[in-house]
Amino acid sequence: MLKKPKGINALIVYILIRSIFLTVMEFSSPIFRDRSKLSPRYVPAELPHREKQVEEIRYALKGSYFKPDEFPLTVLQIIGSAGIGKTSTVLKSSKLLEDEFANNRLKLVTAYVNLKLHGGNKYAIYRLLLERVAPELPAQGMSAEEMLRYLLRHLRDKKIYVIIILDEIDYLIKISKDSGGIIYDLTRLNEFDPDKPCNVKGVIFIARSTDFYSRLDPAELSTLGRVPMKFTTYSINQVSDILVSRCSEAFNAIAIGSDIIDEVSKFTTSPSVNGDIRYALDLLLYAGNLAESGGTGRVLADQVRKVHGQIHPSISSLDVEELSRNQILTLIAIIRALKTKRRQYVDLKEIRLHASLLAEEFKIKKLDVEDHLDDLNIKNIIEMRSLKEIGIHSISLNELEPLLQGQIERRNGHKSTRGGSGENGN
Ligand SMILES: Nc1ncnc2c1ncn2[C@@H]1O[C@H](COP(=O)(O)OP(=O)(O)OP(=O)(O)O)[C@@H](O)[C@H]1O
Ligand SMILES: [Mg+2]
Repeated sequence: MLKKPKGINALIVYILIRSIFLTVMEFSSPIFRDRSKLSPRYVPAELPHREKQVEEIRYALKGSYFKPDEFPLTVLQIIGSAGIGKTSTVLKSSKLLEDEFANNRLKLVTAYVNLKLHGGNKYAIYRLLLERVAPELPAQGMSAEEMLRYLLRHLRDKKIYVIIILDEIDYLIKISKDSGGIIYDLTRLNEFDPDKPCNVKGVIFIARSTDFYSRLDPAELSTLGRVPMKFTTYSINQVSDILVSRCSEAFNAIAIGSDIIDEVSKFTTSPSVNGDIRYALDLLLYAGNLAESGGTGRVLADQVRKVHGQIHPSISSLDVEELSRNQILTLIAIIRALKTKRRQYVDLKEIRLHASLLAEEFKIKKLDVEDHLDDLNIKNIIEMRSLKEIGIHSISLNELEPLLQGQIERRNGHKSTRGGSGENGN
C-alpha cells in the first residue's frame, strides 16, 4: 500500500493519489461493476414486481397535475413488512409525479421524512418539513401550528405543490405519545384555510403494519382512512427477478451466475428473512467482497452460504454434538459431493460414492447414507428436494466440514487418513 507522507502538500498529493488508486481498483474489480448499486439507499430506476403499486399511487394522484388547485388533498397509507420496496415504490412514484408536474409547467416538491431517523416531537418534524420544502424560511420562534400555516401560505405564494411522505409512522406513534396529533394535522391541511386551495396535494404514510391504529383517536383514524395499500411479500421467483435486475447494475456479468441468484433468493424467502430484499443485497455485497478478496473470479455458492451462515447459522456446534456418528459421516459425504460437483444440489449416487471413499479414509465399514437422509432433513440440516437433489442449508461448506471431522475424530479417538495420521479405528 501507499506510505503515508509528512507535510500538508505531500498529504494532499497522497490523498489525491490514494483516491485515484482506489477508483482504479474499484473500476478494475473483477467482481463489481459498481458496488454502490447494492446500497439499500440507492433507488433503482426499475422496480420489478412493484410496477402495479407505482401505477396505483400515481393513479390516486392523477389529475393533481392538470388542475392542481381543484384537486383535493389525498391521503394514502402504504403498509407492508420490512424490505419489500415500500419506500422505494413511493419515492419512485413521487419522482414520476414531479415529472408530470414539470411537463405541465408546474412545480412539485417531494418532502420526505423518515421518522425513525429524524423523528422527535411534532415541532421538530414540522421544522424538518419546512426545511425540505422552503429552506429559506425561518422556523425559529414559531409554534408547530404556525409553522404549518406559514408553510401553506408560502406554497400558495410561490405556486409550489408538495407531496409529503412520512415514512415509518408506526415507529413514531409507538415511541412517542404526543406524536399522534401529526396525523390529525397533516390529514386536515386543507382545513387550515378552507376557502383557499391547499398546495399540499398528497400525504403518504408508510408503516410496517396497522398495529399503530390502536394508538390513534377516532378523529385521526377517520381522516387517515381505513383502507391502506397493502404490499405483499415477494415470492421466490419475484425475488429472483429483482436480484437479476439489481445484479446487472452492481456486478460484472461473469461474476454472478444463476446458481447464486437462486441461492440468495432461497435464503431471502425463508421464513426468518421473509422476502427482505435489503438482506439479499447485503448477502450479495458481502459474498462479492469475499470473492474479490479471495480472488475466486466469480461469486461462489459457498461464499454466499458463508455470509448467510454467519448471520443465520443453521447448524450450531451443539447441533453437531447431538448428531449420531453416522449422521455426521453422511453430512461429510454430502459436503464432499457438493464441493466436488460445485453445485447447490447433488444426486444420491454422488453422495454414495463419497461415502465409500469416507469409509476407506476412516477405515470403517460401508456407510448406508440413505438411512440418515430423512433424519437430517427433518432436523432441517439438509434440504432434500428429491433423491436427485440433495443440498445443505445455509452454512459455508468449507467451515462445516472441519467442524464435523473434528467431532468424528473426538468420538473415535483417531484421525482420518486425510488428516495425515491414519490411526486405526473401528
Ligand atoms: N422490486 C424491487 N426492485 C428492486 N429493488 C427493490 C425492490 N424492492 C425492494 N428493493 C430494494 O430493497 C431495499 C429495501 O427496499 P425498501 O427500502 O423500499 O423497503 P421497505 O419496504 O421500505 O422496508 P422497511 O420497512 O424496512 O423500510 C432497497 O434497496 C430497494 O431498492
Ligand atoms: Mg422503508
